[in-house]
Amino acid sequence: MSVKISPSIIAGDFAKLKEELKSTEEAGADMLHLDVMDGVFVPNITFGPLVVDAINRLTDLPLDTHLMLIEPHKYVERFAEAGSDIITFHIESRSKARIVIKMIKDLGKKVGVSLNPSTPIRVLYPYMEEFDLILVMGVNPGFYGQKFIPSVIPKIEKLVEIKSKGLKFELSVDGGVNEEIAKRLIEMGVDIIVTGKYFYSSKDRKSLVSHLKNQ
Ligand code: DX5
Ligand code: ZN
Repeated sequence: MSVKISPSIIAGDFAKLKEELKSTEEAGADMLHLDVMDGVFVPNITFGPLVVDAINRLTDLPLDTHLMLIEPHKYVERFAEAGSDIITFHIESRSKARIVIKMIKDLGKKVGVSLNPSTPIRVLYPYMEEFDLILVMGVNPGFYGQKFIPSVIPKIEKLVEIKSKGLKFELSVDGGVNEEIAKRLIEMGVDIIVTGKYFYSSKDRKSLVSHLKNQ
């Protein structure tokens, strides 16, 4: 099966949100990545459930919501109500993973977990069977357009190996993906590629997606 592409809308032009969403759909993206930042877990602030709800009403793409929040358990319900399909929280947040996982499941949404570049996979081991998505950060979260940190590659390889033993999660990589990195990730067997700057700065988004999917 070909790789899925999840463009990160923060790299798009919010003054033309409707057009950007239409162009993302027409390019053949599989889902839309929504980077929610609280200014505490990461040194930047983006948007909350109000904007997710507006985006949900503007697009049919499944919403892949990435919560960069210090206390995600306080907000998962609101992001679910706003139309998120996958809700991803950070394992480094202050909330108890067990509780956040249960909340997301009880809301009928897919459960994602994200790992910062310096976080080892072993912290996920107690919950491994619970995840629908594991989102490996290729950059320290906070901003789009950063450079991919190559030392995360062994972690991705290890997760591909773990997944091949029969776990259900989809493996996604987020941050710093360009053409060359995307090629490498696809060869390694990553399921979903999140792309901000590479996708939204492209003049031909449709060709970019079909090029990635046909590798
Ligand atoms: C980083 C975000 C990423 C980022 C991706 O904090 O989680 O989703 O926006 O953008 P690029 O692909 O430009 O790094
Ligand atoms: Zn993200």
